[in-house]
Amino acid sequence: MEDHFGRQINYLRISITDRCNLRCLYCMPPEGITTTSRDEILRMEELLRVAEVAQQLGITKFRLTGGEPLLRKGVIPFIRSLALLPGVEDIAVTTNGTLLLELGEQLRDAGVRRLNISLDTLDSDKFHRITRGGSLKQVYDGIQKALEIGFDPVKLNVVALRNFNDREWVDFARLTVDHPLHVRFIELMPIGASWTMSGNSFVSCEEVKSVIEQGLGKLNRAKRGVQGSGPAEYYTLPNSKGSIGFIHAMSNHFCADCNRLRLTADGKLRPCLHDQHEVDLRDALRSGVGDKELQRLFRKAVSLKPANHHVATGAPEAGRGMCQIGG
Ligand code: 5AD
Ligand code: SF4
Repeated sequence: MEDHFGRQINYLRISITDRCNLRCLYCMPPEGITTTSRDEILRMEELLRVAEVAQQLGITKFRLTGGEPLLRKGVIPFIRSLALLPGVEDIAVTTNGTLLLELGEQLRDAGVRRLNISLDTLDSDKFHRITRGGSLKQVYDGIQKALEIGFDPVKLNVVALRNFNDREWVDFARLTVDHPLHVRFIELMPIGASWTMSGNSFVSCEEVKSVIEQGLGKLNRAKRGVQGSGPAEYYTLPNSKGSIGFIHAMSNHFCADCNRLRLTADGKLRPCLHDQHEVDLRDALRSGVGDKELQRLFRKAVSLKPANHHVATGAPEAGRGMCQIGG
């Protein structure tokens, strides 16, 4: 599918649940979010049907997100079926890592090669604080396991936060020397519960990069892109096994290459993370329409993709948090 701006859309991010076992400060308000009731979220057969239609339309890359996707019952058989669809070339998962020790091997065997793991601090007290109760050790063991059993690439998503992890950017960067980890710093976006963070939490990627360079010397632009690099810009330290990436979430310079659609857990196609337009698939699925009609709805979502987003200039909020849209 091609959109109005000549972009080829070949990537679908599917949020398979809006539930999460952590409560990251910038993502969830203290009282938690009202999760969608069970019959409002798409059933596994419905998700698979959507993926099948997506694949008919040339979507080859899939990512499962949440909430925390590994909490969803049936996630492993779902991935196995997804991997068997003819046009599916790539399945990745974005996870908070808490269940990797338990599910890592099954995930790999089902067909996932690439993992993005969210981790905002390397200090267990701070981790406990930012996730409102999570255990760093559990995630750490999960990351270790992921590397051991051969996921490649393993990316760590670090939301850069002033007065929270600013003294750890260099430590995160140093991790890439001895481990084949791709550490990506993400700019805090005004989405979800980020408004509850103190006003000066936002840090630009430029600042993170310059702090790292002060500590460790000049970063070299990575020669080869990391697989599935999307909007990140990658650098390396000399003789390192991994890389350091920057996701300039607040700028829209990567919108020109945007190749994705998102599916929310309750069955809405979302043309852009930062745009409230949605195309509902759930009613169509449940009223028994044929593939042609579902294809039409996909094309409609593609036609609604904006040229770029306007978050930095005070555009309307995305309407839902990341845990509802799926990072
Ligand atoms: N700004 C930036 N990143 C965010 N994430 C969740 N909410 C925000 C936000 N407001 C990140 C998570 C996860 C990824 C999917 O998105 O930390 O790594
Ligand atoms: Fe859960 Fe991810 Fe939101 Fe943290 S950012 S509460 S891990 S969905």
